[in-house]
Amino acid sequence: METIQVKAERPYEIHIGRGILSSCARLLLQHARAEGGGERKVFVVTDRNVGVRCPYLHTLIETLEKEGLSVSQAVLRAGERTKSFKSLSRLIGMMTKEGLGRDDILIGLGGGVIGDLAGFAASVYMRGLSHVLLPTTLLAQVDSSIGGKTGINTREGKNLVGSFRSPLFVLIDIDTLSTLEDRQWLCGLAEIVKCGLVGDRELFETAQTLFFDTRDAPPVGGRECRLRLEKDQGALYSLISGAIRMKRSIVARDEKEQGVRRLLNFGHTFGHAIENLLGYGRLLHGEAVILGMRMATELSAALGLLPEKERVRIALFLARLSIPRPGRIKATRIFEQMQKDKKKKDGRVHYVLLAKTGEGTIRSDPDARTVVSCIEKVLDAL
Ligand SMILES: NC(=O)c1ccc[n+]([C@@H]2O[C@H](COP(=O)([O-])OP(=O)(O)OC[C@H]3O[C@@H](n4cnc5c(N)ncnc54)[C@H](O)[C@@H]3O)[C@@H](O)[C@H]2O)c1
Repeated sequence: METIQVKAERPYEIHIGRGILSSCARLLLQHARAEGGGERKVFVVTDRNVGVRCPYLHTLIETLEKEGLSVSQAVLRAGERTKSFKSLSRLIGMMTKEGLGRDDILIGLGGGVIGDLAGFAASVYMRGLSHVLLPTTLLAQVDSSIGGKTGINTREGKNLVGSFRSPLFVLIDIDTLSTLEDRQWLCGLAEIVKCGLVGDRELFETAQTLFFDTRDAPPVGGRECRLRLEKDQGALYSLISGAIRMKRSIVARDEKEQGVRRLLNFGHTFGHAIENLLGYGRLLHGEAVILGMRMATELSAALGLLPEKERVRIALFLARLSIPRPGRIKATRIFEQMQKDKKKKDGRVHYVLLAKTGEGTIRSDPDARTVVSCIEKVLDAL
């Protein structure tokens, strides 16, 4: 098991390994001892896919109970809709019913939806109790479980209500990915590639070597992505660990997203606008981000930031990541939708762009015509 330290207002550790879900009980007891605490109750929240269709909830509860911990659970509906006030209120109701106090522990076992909801519940329940994240999607392992952002969606927008709250620790069992659906693998890979492009050239090149060995190699959809990563466990491990280390170093410099952390939104401003226009569900988040990264790469070159040779290399790689056709969608509408981005600063959209592979940069000055033509270029190539 590898352990990565995260520097934050409340520092914490990320443990990565295979078959380590059962180590959760031991780690919890270590923390309890270090804090000189007595008995603690543990409440596990998960979703139906993870908790019912997969063995993880069962394994976790068995090992926690074996260590003498008192455990209760909530199994919520799977999907983005669960990141809502309604689920939060339900969850808090169940935690209250179980008599959870501020010294007890909430565990989020699942993807980014469960992690974000559990983190937010932990930050508001009785003004804060400790939580632990056990991420089970590739996206959650490399992205959403790192950095302390929590949140829920409202009718008005995604992640509109949330907080910054560090977990007690994050435990990443790579073996839990074995049951993940194909398309979810590509979504996780998209976030890894993003980390490489804005901050770690070597990470990008590892992904590139793995998926783009020859120029005429066939496109990589979710299934190919999964098969290749499952076959090369060493590469999978180094991609996960590399992305976490990259995000960790950014978060250590800018925990509350005032500056450099905004680089992690590479591809997301375009991607969120696309998701929003298509309606959530047509393209998965990571798939929309792949399109968004293609658009941002074109814009970086159009503004003279990214050398042509690098643009070609990155564009060829991203175009190989095969996503479902989004259907007809107009470049101008994507542009208009981006103007509603909640991460606008001083009334302007801040575009995360590339100066070179492994170096992101932020600009707020691209003119509308250039942005629209870059969006069009990518849509025309689909
Ligand atoms: N907090 C952050 O910094 C941050 C960063 C990125 C994304 N996010 C959030 O993360 C969410 C997306 O996360 P996600 O992609 O993990 O979505 P998700 O949690 O909805 O998981 C995707 C699907 O995979 C299923 N699943 C999870 N683990 C599984 C497993 N091991 N085997 C089989 N099925 C499994 C889930 O039930 C779900 O159906 C979004 O809400 C996004 O806003 C947060």
